[in-house]
Amino acid sequence: MRHFPQAFLAILFTVHLVAGAKWEFVQNGTSGILALESIIVGPTLALFFDFSGTGGPLQINGHSAWGALWNLQTNEATALDVVSDTFCASGGFLSNGTMVSVGGHLAGNSSTAVDGRMALRIFEPCDTPDGQGCTLFDDPDLVHLAETRWYPSSLRIFDGSLMIAGGIHEATPFYNTDPVNSFEFFPSKNGGVPRSSLFLQRSLVANLFPRVLALPDGKVFMVANNQSIIYDIEANTETILPDLPNGVRVTNPFDGTITLLPLSPPLYIPEVLVCGGTNTSDQIPPEQLSSQDAASDQCSRITLTRAGIKRGWEVERMLEGRMMPEMILLPNGQVLIINGAQTGYAAISSVAVVQGNSNADHAALTPSLYDPLAPLGRRISNKGLPTTDIARMYHSSVTLTPSGNILLAGSNPNVNVNETVKFPTEFRVQYLNPPYMSMARPTLSSVPAKIGFDSRFTAQVTIPNSVYRSPEIKVALMDLGYSSHAFHSSSRLVFLEASLSSDRSPPNNRVYPPGPGFLFVTVGDATSAGIRVMVGSGASPPVPDQGRRI
Ligand SMILES: *[C@@H]1O[C@H](CO)[C@@H](O)[C@H](O)[C@H]1NC(C)=O
Ligand SMILES: *[C@@H]1O[C@H](CO)[C@@H](O)[C@H](O)[C@H]1NC(C)=O
Ligand SMILES: *[C@@H]1O[C@H](CO)[C@@H](O)[C@H](O)[C@H]1NC(C)=O
Ligand SMILES: *[C@@H]1O[C@H](CO)[C@@H](O)[C@H](O)[C@H]1NC(C)=O
Ligand SMILES: *[C@@H]1O[C@H](CO)[C@@H](O)[C@H](O)[C@H]1NC(C)=O
Ligand SMILES: *[C@@H]1O[C@H](CO)[C@@H](O)[C@H](O)[C@H]1NC(C)=O
Repeated sequence: MRHFPQAFLAILFTVHLVAGAKWEFVQNGTSGILALESIIVGPTLALFFDFSGTGGPLQINGHSAWGALWNLQTNEATALDVVSDTFCASGGFLSNGTMVSVGGHLAGNSSTAVDGRMALRIFEPCDTPDGQGCTLFDDPDLVHLAETRWYPSSLRIFDGSLMIAGGIHEATPFYNTDPVNSFEFFPSKNGGVPRSSLFLQRSLVANLFPRVLALPDGKVFMVANNQSIIYDIEANTETILPDLPNGVRVTNPFDGTITLLPLSPPLYIPEVLVCGGTNTSDQIPPEQLSSQDAASDQCSRITLTRAGIKRGWEVERMLEGRMMPEMILLPNGQVLIINGAQTGYAAISSVAVVQGNSNADHAALTPSLYDPLAPLGRRISNKGLPTTDIARMYHSSVTLTPSGNILLAGSNPNVNVNETVKFPTEFRVQYLNPPYMSMARPTLSSVPAKIGFDSRFTAQVTIPNSVYRSPEIKVALMDLGYSSHAFHSSSRLVFLEASLSSDRSPPNNRVYPPGPGFLFVTVGDATSAGIRVMVGSGASPPVPDQGRRI
């Protein structure tokens, strides 16, 4: 990493910290569809998906749209033509930069959508800044999964393919009573035959959207209900890990959230953080549950080394209970905990005591920051974090943007548009701006478009004088993830070996599964905007192992 000589810097920037730079919520624009899923698909574009039957105001071909491109510069939504129903799908990028949206539901309004439960919707890389000409290939007759899957999870793995886990065959109001206890891949492996999973069977009935993370050795860590395993894709074996402590359960309809903490050189030791959910038993029928039942405030953390697994889960408490929280990795290595409800459960109109149509109540309106490097018990704080008046509960989504702020959209614990309940259908889009959005920031430029594994590269960073005093420079390579149902599929942060003279890319395709990402640089308190890079060759999956094994 090279910087301009300081003299030059002084001329370019007469920079000062803007007085009062602070965290703030800013509302701007409306999504036109209910943004229950979101993913950043380009430097200026997010893609939103909805349920085909919601009936939002954004129109396409004479009916309500259920897909939209959100322009991060103009804060406007453009309808996207989607063929199949995307309700409760997931997705992610492949090694060639193509985004695939996976699974969905039977059409809400049979006239407008086709059955999306086996769908693989392909969004090829599209670089028009305003999304003009960007299209989705969606033909479940031609390209499809082996099983019908509503509520599946997706994960980009070491060969650049997507692994697809779990789900339910048909709609049921609450628990997973018609489970898809298997994994499959896109592009397919094993001739397209799904691999059955004892873990998915054992973790019934609260295991929808299993939380799946790619470990730096290529294996997959999973949490469903109160259980966890490591799945070895190459050997097709499941190794049972300790249950979450204190009976806490974290997958739909008991959604907590989970994230892989940032991976740092030289060892990239994986640590996992799981927060929120509930300690309610999964043996209680929904007719005996209430939107007023307290959600769990527990965060559990484990280090996935032999010694770490032996030590087991380390527990600490959030400042409030959260059902359906979200965790967003920030480029400086901290984790934002945001959204959700302080009581109740996920899903709509299925427990005994509802709030309107919502199974949850008491929206959590103030985010917290989790500092992975702070000592146990001192990691979580909401000091300096603002409070919003917009509830983001069931069917909301949130993602870090290339600018470095956080995009919040959606929330609809109702089936169709409903404006008369306490938790209405939410079309307002918001950003949560970290303090660096109103400070002088470092700027990244001359970043190579493609970065191989285990290779040196240089980029330019201009560092404002006010920031330059800080000796520490952090370069984060991030997959921003696919936000759906309190989980961010494939979300990942790998810190690079970085100095002011050069950076080194991740050592191999298991530390960062090959595919697109964004590079951010943080100096002191200031983080740059992100620049998109392709990590690896950009070839279509499956791609061979690359780089140096660690
Ligand atoms: C689907 O049907 C519902 C209820 O009849 C209606 O309110 C909604 O507008 C329809 N949605 C679409 C996408 O046409
Ligand atoms: C909303 O976004 C638009 C487009 O970027 C911008 O022109 C406008 O100033 C913003 N409004 C607010 C209130 O931030
Ligand atoms: C996890 O849940 C199962 C039943 O769903 C229960 O038998 C087991 O004791 C739980 N584990 C812990 C550690 O509470
Ligand atoms: C279950 O969670 C609630 C809410 O956090 C808490 O008050 C209660 O003590 C927990 N029960 C057990 C057995 O851990
Ligand atoms: C909104 O939800 C409430 C509570 O279930 C219901 O009474 C009302 O009819 C709904 N409105 C619409 C437009 O569906
Ligand atoms: C990426 O690979 C997928 C799966 O083989 C394929 O459908 C898609 O067209 C490819 N995209 C590009 C840009 O090569």
